Amino acid sequence: MSTYILGIESSCDDTSAAVICDGCLKSNVIASQQVHEAYGGVVPELASRAHQQNILPVVSEALRRAGIDKNQLSAIAFTRGPGLLGSLLVGTSFAKGMAIGLDIPLIDVNHLHAHVLSHFVKKEKNDKTPEFPFMCLLISGGNSQIVLAKSPYEMEIVGKTIDDAAGEAFDKCAKVLGLPYPGGPHIDRLAATGNPTAFKFSKPHIVGLDYSFSGLKTSFLYTLRDNLKKDPDFINKNIADLAASLQKTIIDILLDKLAKALDAYPVGDVAIGGGVSANSGVRNAVEEFCRKRGVTPWIPERAFTTDNAAMVATAGYFKYLSNQFCDLSLPPYSRVTM
Ligand code: KG4
Repeated sequence: MSTYILGIESSCDDTSAAVICDGCLKSNVIASQQVHEAYGGVVPELASRAHQQNILPVVSEALRRAGIDKNQLSAIAFTRGPGLLGSLLVGTSFAKGMAIGLDIPLIDVNHLHAHVLSHFVKKEKNDKTPEFPFMCLLISGGNSQIVLAKSPYEMEIVGKTIDDAAGEAFDKCAKVLGLPYPGGPHIDRLAATGNPTAFKFSKPHIVGLDYSFSGLKTSFLYTLRDNLKKDPDFINKNIADLAASLQKTIIDILLDKLAKALDAYPVGDVAIGGGVSANSGVRNAVEEFCRKRGVTPWIPERAFTTDNAAMVATAGYFKYLSNQFCDLSLPPYSRVTM
């Protein structure tokens, strides 16, 4: 008999449900929330309400696309945290209610583990996956971490941001350029035609493997302020060069610490994950970095970079295989280490 896992993701502003069968992806449905665009960032209260509206249709659609009835499910995996508590409560409560109704086990998933395990989302049984232990650069709107993945169940954060995440650096700098939220994809698009060495922004000097992006944000802001005094049309005239230079600085910062992490923990496989791993410059730079170091790069499909339930179902399947189920009383959590 086949094992069907339903994955549910609701940690931030994407409501997603996915079905995997014996480890292979059958469906992955994502409802993104446009309501936040007008506010220039995610509004937690609005996110929770939108999850409430979306969750039932999204789960129904995931089951329909997978071609199965809910009674065929073997277990339900849900994102327990970290994330916005109100958002997590919607997915957690829905997963619990459905598991009780179907009398099947429940599996709690750490959202960050799921991002790392997104490289194990398979379309076909023989799809290749990274070899443990591997290094994963996990870069999103809420996190920037270097994770040493020792097994599907054991992950160690060897470096992390001490202030902003890489995605926040993209989004906040994009905002001062007058670009819509989230700004990361707009910077990516503009950077394609800009000169990455046109402007120099400051880089952090943090010892060890930790990141910092707040200084870059200030340096970017000061460059705009000083130049706008001389020319009020400075942004319009230089937007592509500003985007390309910003993107290059973020990539340099990311790769500098990744190189140090690999020196400290020499592994043969290097993966990237999280929303910022959709960035074209980051993807190309990591490929090139890995080629030079003689390690294997794992660049995820763009659909699996941002929040999605395929990675949650996949992480859940690993736990299913080792009988790691959770209690119905388990609450979600907003913050977590690994
Ligand atoms: O993982 P994710 O979907 O969720 C959060 O952690 O919030 O990541 C969202 C982040 C945002 O900061 C967004 O601007 C960034 O990922 N992002 C990008 C690109 N696509 C998404 N940043 C740079 N270039 C992109 N192409």
